[in-house]
Amino acid sequence: MKPKHFLDLHLLDGDELRHILDLANGYKRGLNVAGGDKPLDGKCLAMIFEKPSTRTRVSFEVGMVQLGGHPLVLMGENSQLGRGETIADTARVLSRMVDGVMLRTDAHEKLTEMAEYCTIPVINALTDDSHPCQLMADIMTIEEHRGPIAGKVVTWVGDGNNMANSYIHAATRFGFELRLSCPDELMVKDSILDWAANEGGNISIVKDPKLAASGADVVVTDTWVSMGDSDYDRRMELLTPYQVNEGLMAQCANDALFLHCLPAHRGEEVTDAVLDGPNSVVWDEAENRLHAQKGIMVWSMM
Ligand code: CP
Ligand code: NVA
Repeated sequence: MKPKHFLDLHLLDGDELRHILDLANGYKRGLNVAGGDKPLDGKCLAMIFEKPSTRTRVSFEVGMVQLGGHPLVLMGENSQLGRGETIADTARVLSRMVDGVMLRTDAHEKLTEMAEYCTIPVINALTDDSHPCQLMADIMTIEEHRGPIAGKVVTWVGDGNNMANSYIHAATRFGFELRLSCPDELMVKDSILDWAANEGGNISIVKDPKLAASGADVVVTDTWVSMGDSDYDRRMELLTPYQVNEGLMAQCANDALFLHCLPAHRGEEVTDAVLDGPNSVVWDEAENRLHAQKGIMVWSMM
């Protein structure tokens, strides 16, 4: 049987994604929603990090323990991957020893290669192209504060990065309107916009961030310099007009939510007043990584 990989939201259908969210919400409420209180008893997850992490590492590791399983962290530079062992060979070996692989890496092709050669589930814990686990926590957070996300207006402000790509996938699968406000030079690729258009996604590009935020139910941003980006000065210059501050939030619906996957760079993409303000749900969002991760692991590994 083909392993149940969690690689990207657009590769799963809406029912599967909703099922994962139902599991996650159950775990948040302390329910044993699948397979008793230790559904992953005796199972081992290899967590490979080729980039730094706080939330993802802690949520997977704690989540795995809470589900009765065992997390095993491999830092890229301390494993043979870091010395050039191929992904395919690593995948073959891990498939003989563990029950799932979680990978945080740079090139997305490394993730797809891992999935191709693994006979066990592979979970995308962030690549240069996408961050689907974070989106499950984001959708969960928006829905627990504002009810069903279908039909809501979400405005993405800032860099057209991996998180923006996953928001495009999520908007299309969960049926919300997504407005993208990014500088031309940092806009998401046409190919992902074409995919969304073909799938009937309601995605628009609104260059002016204030116009994009007008009447929005949710505003989301992310760091202006992602892991692996090197052009700091150019990014600051291009992105300064896209800061989420009180002026921008004033354009939104009165009770609009502010989300950020974190880590935040206070004073750059978001001001303290917004991040610590009444519209911000970033700490719930961070907590929900734990519950969402448990839903994803149970869905893929049970
Ligand atoms: N949001 C997120 O993925 O955080 P970490 O980089 O700390 O894992
Ligand atoms: N876009 C950011 C997300 C961090 C969780 C990065 O890739 O560094």
